[in-house]
Amino acid sequence: MIKSIFKDMTQSNFESGVSESKEGLPAHIAIIMDGNGRWAESKSLKRIQGHQAGVESIREVVTASCDLGIQYLTLYAFSTENWQRPKLEIDVLMHLLSDYLDKELKTLTKNNVRFQVIGRIHTLPKEIQKKIAFNVKETENNTGLTLTLALSYSSRCEIVDAMKDLALKVKDGILSPEDINEEVIQQHLYTKDMPDPDFLIRTSGEMRVSNFLLWQLSYTEIFVTDVFWPDFRKQNFLNAIQSFQKRERRFGRTNFSN
Ligand code: FPP
Repeated sequence: MIKSIFKDMTQSNFESGVSESKEGLPAHIAIIMDGNGRWAESKSLKRIQGHQAGVESIREVVTASCDLGIQYLTLYAFSTENWQRPKLEIDVLMHLLSDYLDKELKTLTKNNVRFQVIGRIHTLPKEIQKKIAFNVKETENNTGLTLTLALSYSSRCEIVDAMKDLALKVKDGILSPEDINEEVIQQHLYTKDMPDPDFLIRTSGEMRVSNFLLWQLSYTEIFVTDVFWPDFRKQNFLNAIQSFQKRERRFGRTNFSN
């Protein structure tokens, strides 16, 4: 059993999120941030207000990740399927994203966060593409947490894009079909520079992966909580990580020797 990083911590240390031992921490955490709409509905608010409250959860989780020394945090912020939502809701999500990109750069820089994105970024509004490029450039030399927003992302699109790249290379004689293996495919995904997630958190209770990192999640530990994303704050995040630390990861192997 992996020793819990929280084992010897006082309650106040636990709540602060600053660990004394980094043992057993997931290097890469991915999150499906779900339940903004239901959170709003449960409070007789507009869906939009759920998304607004969700941004505050992003801030807490990013800060907690920095405090803990997590290396990679990947957040599913906007799927390719989300383009089918009502225009008003899409506009609000784009506005919140734009605002986040404007306001957060200072904090990201202060916390040594490297910011990046995955997805079909060219389908986002031009103004947002520019802000993304700016934030990526400004933080590219930071050495702390790598924060990745999945935007206009779907895993099947990612795999299609990778296959097109590979097909072109074969057509142009740069690659031979015999040389295609798991590593080569991995190197053509949007996530080529990242390790696979160790831990996937999904809020709001749905038991599905919703077209998120399908290739990369092969051996990821999954944690689903009923808590809606806007209510998922630092303490919920720490509890989830604590649960990860109790998992035994076997990657398809066994612990028995006989
Ligand atoms: C799903 O809730 C959540 C999203 C569409 C993605 C998360 C978006 C945010 C936290 C807001 C803005 C993002 C950034 C990066 C600033 P839902 O609407 O599907 O909830 P429901 O399933 O209850 O309807």
